[in-house]
Amino acid sequence: MIASPPPSDASGMSSIVVREIANDVEMEAVYRLRDDVFVHEQDLTHDARDDPEDGHSIHLLAFDGGTPVGTGRVTLYGREAQVAWVAVAISHRRRGVGDAIMRALIERSRHEGATFMSLNAQAHAIPFYTRLGFESISGEFRMGGIAHRVMTRRLV
Ligand code: COA
Repeated sequence: MIASPPPSDASGMSSIVVREIANDVEMEAVYRLRDDVFVHEQDLTHDARDDPEDGHSIHLLAFDGGTPVGTGRVTLYGREAQVAWVAVAISHRRRGVGDAIMRALIERSRHEGATFMSLNAQAHAIPFYTRLGFESISGEFRMGGIAHRVMTRRLV
């Protein structure tokens, strides 16, 4: 289990714990968060469950007092760690949950021997990833109607 420090805000939120999913029930919680954010909120896709990479990826959940409030996935291709499906429940944004998920994905990928990380960043999230050490390496392209850029970060 990867326990993250409590977010330093004044919301009264208890500590956030980020860990890998343990079973199919928790994978359902991952899908529910994806549905809420990427299907209903953003209209990025109609199906956030049918991703062939899911079967060979590492899925993390962030819990607030036992309630899943965020998720993220990393897929390892040799030395490259590809991050996708990072989402935080709208009720829990700007409290450090996304940061805790990304730091846990970075830590886990290093542990698996990855030397760099890549992701497709939605334009609005570029400051979020930049703060975590990522740099844009592409021009802007549209995916699901939303502007994105490829971002990468060294892990060594
Ligand atoms: N705009 C600008 N900077 C942002 C930001 C935003 N929307 N969201 C986060 N940041 C930056 C800020 O510097 C923030 O620190 P601060 O709040 O002290 O200023 C820092 O990143 C850490 O933010 P954090 O609270 O950990 O982010 P979060 O828990 O709100 O999660 C996302 C960030 C992007 C995962 C969340 O907004 C989300 O789920 N969005 C919808 C789904 C999505 O776009 N996913 C990314 C796909 S590439």
